Amino acid sequence: MTQSSKSHLWVYTISAFAALAGLLFGYDTGVISGAILFIRKDFVLSSGSTEIIVSAVLLGALIGSGVSGKITDILGRRKVLIGTAIIFIIGSVSSAFAPSIFWLIIGRIILGIAIGVGSFTAPLYLAEIAPFHIRGLLVSLNQLAITIGIVLSYVIDFSFANSGDWRWMLGLGVIPAIILLVGSLFLPESPRWMVLRGWNDKAREVLKSIRNTDDVSQELSEIEQSIGKEKGNWSMLFSKWMRPIIFISLGLSFFQQTTGINTIIYYAPTVLEIAGFHKATGAILATLGIGIINVSFTIIALPLIDRWGRRPLLLLGLTGMFISLAAMGIAFHFQGSLPSLKWIAVGSMVLYIACFAMSLGPIMWLVISEIFPLEIRGMGVSAAVSVSWGFNMLVALTFLTLIDLFGASGTFWIYAGLCIFGWLFVYLAIPETKGCSLEQIEHNLRLGKRGRDLGLPAEKTLFKYPSNKKVA
Ligand code: BGC
Repeated sequence: MTQSSKSHLWVYTISAFAALAGLLFGYDTGVISGAILFIRKDFVLSSGSTEIIVSAVLLGALIGSGVSGKITDILGRRKVLIGTAIIFIIGSVSSAFAPSIFWLIIGRIILGIAIGVGSFTAPLYLAEIAPFHIRGLLVSLNQLAITIGIVLSYVIDFSFANSGDWRWMLGLGVIPAIILLVGSLFLPESPRWMVLRGWNDKAREVLKSIRNTDDVSQELSEIEQSIGKEKGNWSMLFSKWMRPIIFISLGLSFFQQTTGINTIIYYAPTVLEIAGFHKATGAILATLGIGIINVSFTIIALPLIDRWGRRPLLLLGLTGMFISLAAMGIAFHFQGSLPSLKWIAVGSMVLYIACFAMSLGPIMWLVISEIFPLEIRGMGVSAAVSVSWGFNMLVALTFLTLIDLFGASGTFWIYAGLCIFGWLFVYLAIPETKGCSLEQIEHNLRLGKRGRDLGLPAEKTLFKYPSNKKVA
């Protein structure tokens, strides 16, 4: 084994453990789709209370991601990951043993809080420990884990479908949560966060171990020099020079959710039923198929993110998402006149998932973890991610109403329209961050660069920063 592949092996191992937070995210959001059928029977639930149970996790995630950013900047990424694992364990156990509907909702909100915190801490941590040339791949392991978690939850739902034991379905999430807890006890702290705290010697040791070399002076010096004189607080986050970053991150969070991904992830059986498939088992199996396609295309995207870059994949993916949503709209519009139309709906759904998995799925998490300056990275990423959870909830809560109002075709055309705006947004505003160190991106921001220019190296060497002052 070469020196470089040995050092990569260690950083991959660390990343795989941190990405377990993503697996739990996928599992705990996906598992409810099957479990809810049996929970409804056991507790004799109205549609209103069913909706509350389903969206409790999203509410928790919105709260969790919103309130914990500053904590990640104060306590460090590793301690927050440990805390997240503990909350996941408490949430899984309390949902599985919930004696009443009230306690089930509380359990699901606790799980949501863990999902919310983990959903931004894991990609942020991964971005900070990754060597820059494989950062896209390592951060996207988190998205891969999300997709695997979703499939796993479908498989578990399917295996317990005969017995209808929803407590097992919810409770089994405790296993990856325990592995995450044990794993995070051994994770090194992010060297970038350590430099922020002034622990440069400790940061050097961690860098040496995760790069498997003693020659880390250059990377360390770049991190040291990138730290500005400002205090990382809310006023810095909302200051004028931060606006391009806020714009990019909010835009990506907005478009990742409002182009409709979770109408398929959460409602695939419903959509297939509307398309004319009437057997419930067929719908569940088709859902599993969609989950597997999601995983497969995420795997295909992993190496391409650092090779082709973020922008080409986003533009290509959004084009495919637009075509498939428009086709889905057409298939639903002419539904009933041709039996083959239901297969067009299925084919479009498959194309849509494949395109999302190769673009907005992984790249939204990646880019928002890359672009915030170190002093406020935790706060910034957490704010962007909580906005994403807000839109996730909005789409989940309005999808069926939109279908009532505009029909399935109209609804998918609305999402298709949003893909056009998303495409223009990416084309005009998203920087290519492939091959740039996090410090380079920050340096460009301090130079007053905007939008696409943020990703381009400002100069060949990063050792001479002209000034650390913010640029108004
Ligand atoms: C999104 C989730 C979605 C999942 C599907 C994630 O990147 O944030 O909302 O359910 O991808 O793979």
